[in-house]
Amino acid sequence: MVERTLCIMKPDCVRKNLQGEVLARIQKAGFTVLGMKQLRLTLEEAGAFYAVHKGRPFYDGLVEFMTSGPCVPVALEKENAVADYRTLIGATDPKDAAEGTVRKLYADNKGENIVHGSDSAENGKIEIAFFFAESELI
Ligand code: RTP
Ligand code: MG
Repeated sequence: MVERTLCIMKPDCVRKNLQGEVLARIQKAGFTVLGMKQLRLTLEEAGAFYAVHKGRPFYDGLVEFMTSGPCVPVALEKENAVADYRTLIGATDPKDAAEGTVRKLYADNKGENIVHGSDSAENGKIEIAFFFAESELI
């Protein structure tokens, strides 16, 4: 089934100037880019985006990290997009990520792990709508 998933190139990705390399890997894997922009999240926005993790020990650090500089949300579409994108980026902790995945190649640690990915098709739609108006998805 054709699905949509949200990639966010996190602030560590932008600081390391890895946007091009990460996007090339996404495109080579067959994803269509529907929308892309650069912005800096406010504390309120980052807190809302990761509200599902509120109360977890890493939540405050995650919100601080996600607001520490610009990030690049990218709306993606592909057959089986959610699972295929998560295969491409690898496990949350780069120590556990498979060889050749984006997080294995570029991430420093579990918190600063280069990219976000949606965890279901349903959340993919919700997360894309967080960053993009329907008219911005082309
Ligand atoms: P994401 O939502 O960013 O795509 O990552 P994920 O599904 O692989 O991982 P998730 O469990 O949803 O956690 C969201 C983000 O929180 C940070 N985190 N840090 N230090 C820690 O123990 C820890 N655990 C999670 C990571 O930035 C993770 O991507
Ligand atoms: Mg997640």
